Amino acid sequence: MSTDNRQLRVGMVGYAFMGAAHSQAWRTVNRVYDLPARVRMSSICGRDPQKVAEAADRLGWDGWTTDWRDLVTSDEIDVVDICTPGDSHAEIALAALAAGKHVICEKPLANTVDEARAMAAAAATARASGVRSMCGFNYRRVPAVTMMRQLVAAGRLGAIRHVRATYLQDWIVDPQFPLVWRLQKDKAGSGALGDIGAHIIDLTQYVTGQRITGVSAITETFVKERPLPAGSSGLAAHVDGHGSVDGHGSADGHGPATGQVTVDDAAVFVARLDGGSLATYEATRFATGRKNALRVEINGSLGSLVFDLERLNELEFLDGTQPATEQGFRRILVTEPEHPYLSAWWPPGHIIGYEHSFTHQMRDFVEAVATGADPQPSFEDALQVQLVLDAVTRSAEQGSSWTVVGPELASVAA
Ligand SMILES: NC(=O)c1ccc[n+]([C@@H]2O[C@H](COP(=O)([O-])OP(=O)(O)OC[C@H]3O[C@@H](n4cnc5c(N)ncnc54)[C@H](O)[C@@H]3O)[C@@H](O)[C@H]2O)c1
Repeated sequence: MSTDNRQLRVGMVGYAFMGAAHSQAWRTVNRVYDLPARVRMSSICGRDPQKVAEAADRLGWDGWTTDWRDLVTSDEIDVVDICTPGDSHAEIALAALAAGKHVICEKPLANTVDEARAMAAAAATARASGVRSMCGFNYRRVPAVTMMRQLVAAGRLGAIRHVRATYLQDWIVDPQFPLVWRLQKDKAGSGALGDIGAHIIDLTQYVTGQRITGVSAITETFVKERPLPAGSSGLAAHVDGHGSVDGHGSADGHGPATGQVTVDDAAVFVARLDGGSLATYEATRFATGRKNALRVEINGSLGSLVFDLERLNELEFLDGTQPATEQGFRRILVTEPEHPYLSAWWPPGHIIGYEHSFTHQMRDFVEAVATGADPQPSFEDALQVQLVLDAVTRSAEQGSSWTVVGPELASVAA
């Protein structure tokens, strides 16, 4: 590992959706923020040599490889950025931490609690030698969300009574949508729950500073069998070139092959938080017309806050300490230089978007690594989210019985 924290040479694994979002952030972060270290986009990894070479060129990386182990063992890499499906997070992160690389890993941290526990333990061991790690819950870094946390921490909402969180998508409403990796438990761990439910679990715990202690849940898989993606067929068909699925062809053996959906399409649960609030969560890929609709409302004894990702530059605030005759939800345009992350961007009112949350994420990561601090959320924080996901799954399997989250409750980011 480079001893020079003023330059961080990044190696990224996976270059599709999150790979592109992270590349944009790595490209941008030193151009927007004045940081104690400069990022070098050294190498990316994918499994197809032609495609990864093309991606390296398009996304702005110096080099590429087809084996992530090359990044982990290279003396020319300081940071390993994991942007692959959940089935490879643990293996890559554990190897990278053992090799002394700082690690940033996409959410959810892992596919199982056992994997997440091993990753959190490895992160704790590595931390003792100055090796840093972080999980990529990027929505924390939307300025309006960070500001929500600041208002709650300043006591502007008083005691938090209710948390109401929904994350709604509709990209698999069509039963003919193919059986991509996100619909396979061995690749993704879970469905809507771990993919988008994990975001609202982390976001609400971050904003309130409270942890979910118990849940009662229902989950559903509305479409249980789907066509295999193009290029796949028959038994042990391969999906996305990485792994087999339980699939079968049509009766005559010539029709479109299908496979079992092995994850939830939707998850709905109620929860208690350790600060005394009651919470409701809904994560679904079947909310027809809702594309990426993340909304959180917090009600406290002194006021309420509302965040809607489709209006991410805004925050709605009801200040219950105002005279009743003047109370009402007011819209705060979160674009002032005094607002979180915004002093480096555009003049007030010149709004930002989705990709900026990733630049903010890399800003905080680079600053922490360069100054010898621990970035947040830590792998321990992400383990705690994983424990909530696990409790939701167990509750749903046991007729929605009340299920305690735990046993270990890692600290939520300070
Ligand atoms: N933070 C967010 O808002 C957000 C949004 C989407 C996805 N994610 C998370 O990011 C991760 C990746 O999701 P995605 O949407 O980018 O998936 P994707 O399918 O778009 O991309 C996955 C990439 O990983 C590559 N890959 C898979 N296995 C590999 C291996 N063994 N070696 C090298 N490359 C490998 C694939 O070829 C592909 O380039 C998941 O953990 C997902 O939950 C986070």
